[in-house]
Formats: sequence, structure tokens, C-alpha cells
Amino acid sequence: MSEGLTVAVLGAGEMGACHVEAWTALGHRVAVIADLDTDRAEALAERYRVDRVTADFERAASDPGVQAVSVCLPLALHAPATVAAARAGKHVFTEKPLARTFAEADRMQRAVEEAGVQFGIGFQRNLAQGVTLLREWAAQGRFGRPMVFSSDLLMEVRPKRAMHDRNGNNGPLTDGGCHYYLLWQTVFRSLPRTVYAQGRILALDRPEIAHLEHLAIDTAVVTVAYESGDIGTLTVSWGLAQGFQMARRPDRLIGPRGGAEGTVHSCLTLYEGDRVETHPIPPQDLHRVELGRFAEAIAGRGRPAYGFATGRQMLAVTEAIFASIASGREVAVRWEDYRCC
Ligand SMILES: NC(=O)c1ccc[n+]([C@@H]2O[C@H](COP(=O)([O-])OP(=O)(O)OC[C@H]3O[C@@H](n4cnc5c(N)ncnc54)[C@H](O)[C@@H]3O)[C@@H](O)[C@H]2O)c1
Repeated sequence: MSEGLTVAVLGAGEMGACHVEAWTALGHRVAVIADLDTDRAEALAERYRVDRVTADFERAASDPGVQAVSVCLPLALHAPATVAAARAGKHVFTEKPLARTFAEADRMQRAVEEAGVQFGIGFQRNLAQGVTLLREWAAQGRFGRPMVFSSDLLMEVRPKRAMHDRNGNNGPLTDGGCHYYLLWQTVFRSLPRTVYAQGRILALDRPEIAHLEHLAIDTAVVTVAYESGDIGTLTVSWGLAQGFQMARRPDRLIGPRGGAEGTVHSCLTLYEGDRVETHPIPPQDLHRVELGRFAEAIAGRGRPAYGFATGRQMLAVTEAIFASIASGREVAVRWEDYRCC
């Protein structure tokens, strides 16, 4: 374990709680939690014996007593929080997605590079042992080539209404999709080349989100073609009826020689010819894995699992998906055109 860090966690929601838990379990100390909802922050602080709570994330980000900051705020605040923390000389770990736009991503990256601090981004799901296994099987030619990776995410209208706000987390294609886009390119060992997507809003008439001025696309079918010739597809909806019971399909990967099916953090089944093998994946707290690697990087040992390059790649895929939905055409993914600085 690296030297004990003192940390500020910005946001006391679902991810804020995961980060406070993981930092504490790793032997570091969370000194301050920031959230507009101070009752929520107080409750989290009490559970993990955190000294201080504030409603002001910028104040917590520049707290003189902390060395590292976890940004677990809504997407629109990733840039201002990261910039504030970096300018105060703190190492910054920001939840995914990186940012809403490349202009925001540039501001974050410049602030981090100018400050010379470490930066990490929360793609913890991609650290699951099942991802490594799929990547190895693919590299060993167990599936042959080309491969088709098919993912599926079906949910009722999200209880966190900001997920449906085009100016908030902007629906599943921005908020959740990036986990899949990263998974596919990791397994294929190849970068995305083009995207074709169709999108709809299924939850148009739902009273729970009627207060939102601009609804995000909540339902889509996305196809991403990779330089390797492999294909990733996602069928996603966050616009389904309350209490919706249809189970999502497990991830499926097929090729001319074989396939795999399952969930990368719990169990995968490998199919080769007529042979079927089940591979249970041991449970792991992936937030501890990612923040442990980040702390090691701060201590000068290794690098954070993911940083700006990966965040920018996912942003480029996301932008291409929206451009394809708007134009009805296949769109090239051009993240290299958006290099920072
Ligand atoms: N890595 C993952 O698997 C994963 C999973 C879920 C969410 N996320 C990401 O984590 C981030 C946070 O999501 P979440 O699910 O924890 O959301 P959440 O709604 O549960 O929590 C966000 C918190 O931020 C607080 N907040 C909002 N505006 C604020 C402000 N101006 N100042 C201070 N506090 C403010 C809210 O009160 C809330 O408690 C998002 O970017 C989301 O995409 C990542």
C-alpha cells in the first residue's frame, strides 16, 4: 500500500459513497466531503468518521489539508471541480464520463498538466478480471476474426432524473455507454473507426421528467466498427415502464471459431466448437482497485489505470454517436483531431 493520503470527496451520492468507502478501506483518510445536500454529506461523514462537511465543492477541492480529490459530482461539474482541484495543486480522480465537450476536457487537461499533478478517471468496470479474460481469449484467437460484441442495457426511467436532462448527464449514450465503448476496444485491441446509430426518446410523456426542458435520447441502437474489422453493438433504453421486469441479456461475443457470454465481473461462459466452459469471476471491489492504482501513481509507482487519452476517446465515440443519430449516416470517430493543447 502507498503512503496514507488525505482526501476530499466531492459529491455524497452513489459514487461519492463508493469513493469514501474505497479510500477508507485502502487505509487513506477522507478529511472532507462536499455536497449541496449537506444532510446527505453528514450521513456519509458519520458512517466513515469524516471530520468535515461543506456545501461548497470548490472550497473542499482547494482544502489546504488534502493531497487528492475525488470528483463524484454530476457531469456538468467535472470540469470546474477538476480545474479547481488541480489549480490548488491536488491530484484529481474524476468519475466518468470525462466531460461534456472537448473544450471542457481541454480546460481540465491544461490545468492538470500545468499543475503537474496526477489525474485518473473512473472506468473501474473495465478493470474486472472478466475483461482481461475476454481480451486474452480474443488475442489467443479463441473466437477468430472478425468478432461481434453485443451488449444490452434495459432500465426503467432513471430515479436520478438528471440522467434524462440533455444538459445534465445526457442519457445512457453519454452517461453509461462509455463503459461499453471502452470494453469493446479493450477486448478487440483496436480503436473505433466509424459509428452508426439510431436514437429515440421513449419516455417523452412521462410525468416524472416532465419538468426537464430538454430530454436526452433515452433509447438507441448503436453499432461501432473498429479498425480491426470487429464490431460492437449496444441496444440501450432508460425509457422503460416503472417496474419493468424484462431481464437484460448478458454480454455476448461471437466470432467464426467461438464465443463467450456472461458478465465480466461475475461469470463468463466460453464456447469453442462444441465445447462449453464456465469461468466464475471472483468478486472484487473495483473502486478499491482503481483508487489503489491511483494512490500508487501518486506515490511514484506506476500510472493510473485510465486518464485523459481514454476519456477523450470515449467522448469522441459519444460525439460520433450523436452526430450519426442527427444525420442518419455513418460517422467517422476522429478523437485524434481533438488532441489537447
Ligand atoms: N463509474 C461508474 O460506474 C459510475 C456509476 C454511477 C455514476 N457515475 C458517475 O459519477 C458521477 C456522479 O454520479 P452519482 O451516481 O454519484 O450521482 P448522484 O446524483 O448519486 O450524486 C451526485 C451528488 O452531487 C451533489 N451535487 C450536485 N450538484 C452539486 C453542487 N453544485 N455542489 C455540490 N454537490 C452537488 C448532489 O447533491 C448529489 O448528492 C457522474 O458523473 C456519473 O456519471 C459513475
